[in-house]
Amino acid sequence: MHVLVTGAAGFIGSHLVEALLGRGETVSALDAFDDYYARSLKDANVAAYGRDRVARFFEMDLAGDDLAPVVDGVDAIVHLAAVPGVRGSWGQQFHRYLANNVLATQRLLEAAKEAGTELFVYGSSASAYGDGAVEAVDETYLPQPHSPYGATKLAAEHLVHLYGRVHGMAVTSLRIFSCYGPRERPDKAIQKFLVAARDGTPIEIYGDGSQRRDFTYVGDIVAGVVAALDKPPLGEVVNLARGATHTMREVLEAMEAVTGNPLDVTFGARQAGDVRVTSAVIDKARDLLGYAPSVDLGDGIARQWEAVRSAAHSQ
Ligand SMILES: NC(=O)c1ccc[n+]([C@@H]2O[C@H](COP(=O)([O-])OP(=O)(O)OC[C@H]3O[C@@H](n4cnc5c(N)ncnc54)[C@H](O)[C@@H]3O)[C@@H](O)[C@H]2O)c1
Repeated sequence: MHVLVTGAAGFIGSHLVEALLGRGETVSALDAFDDYYARSLKDANVAAYGRDRVARFFEMDLAGDDLAPVVDGVDAIVHLAAVPGVRGSWGQQFHRYLANNVLATQRLLEAAKEAGTELFVYGSSASAYGDGAVEAVDETYLPQPHSPYGATKLAAEHLVHLYGRVHGMAVTSLRIFSCYGPRERPDKAIQKFLVAARDGTPIEIYGDGSQRRDFTYVGDIVAGVVAALDKPPLGEVVNLARGATHTMREVLEAMEAVTGNPLDVTFGARQAGDVRVTSAVIDKARDLLGYAPSVDLGDGIARQWEAVRSAAHSQ
């Protein structure tokens, strides 16, 4: 299978490329190396799988460049490119989210339609669901995003399924929940806190630490994405999560246990766009994909801690 991975210099995308190459698939990789975080980290992500091991590497902007050569000869697309992060999506930066999350997806769908690409897998987000639910949500829960970022991820998801219904494209969306692990984005909580633990700097928690997340190890997310390539649940939206939640306070306890260091923590204001709970029912993924996440928070943090300690340039 020849798979195009967008966002291939990013956190999840680089792990996916590595897994696909490990299975012997042909991979085309695409990334714009946007400046949401440092280029050096994205170069290191690419180096982790080896730029020369992919069939083609496109340093391109999905929102503006000609995508016909990119989709040429590709059997399946996994679309992970996006500008992430809820907090930055308010205010003047929204145009970036619109271009890179919505317009980019529409342009890639058009190119895939023209090329007759067999399968389009979209990396959607738990942010589509919003802030209403206190218990675990399944895919029938009414999405009501709580941030402009979530609104763009949901808008792109609607576009994906619109192309599926109207143009007969084979599509599926995977709603990814709080993914963490080695190479996690530098703006995400676990990565920030582990770097602070390593460097002995203070940690600021947004809110009182009672917010709960369905933290999911990146290897489990990647296994779910690969399963969606192997037996695509066509037209379906599927949660990918651990299926268990932890509060931020529990995360800090797990980090102290792993690092052996007491952490210097302060609690600040809750941030606009942050939700109180993300929690997923993952029965659909188990049934349709044979998905079986296996990495508990403590094990996942231990693996990420090793990566943070060995990365000379980690932020
Ligand atoms: N990390 C998570 O916890 C999480 C949770 C839910 C959903 N997701 C989704 O998973 C995907 C990957 O997230 P991540 O955490 O790996 O983020 P990331 O920022 O590390 O990776 C995204 C990559 O997309 C690239 N990109 C952005 N706009 C582009 C464009 N117009 N053209 C080409 N490339 C572009 C960026 O340069 C970046 O390398 C995103 O779609 C995100 O919305 C992530």
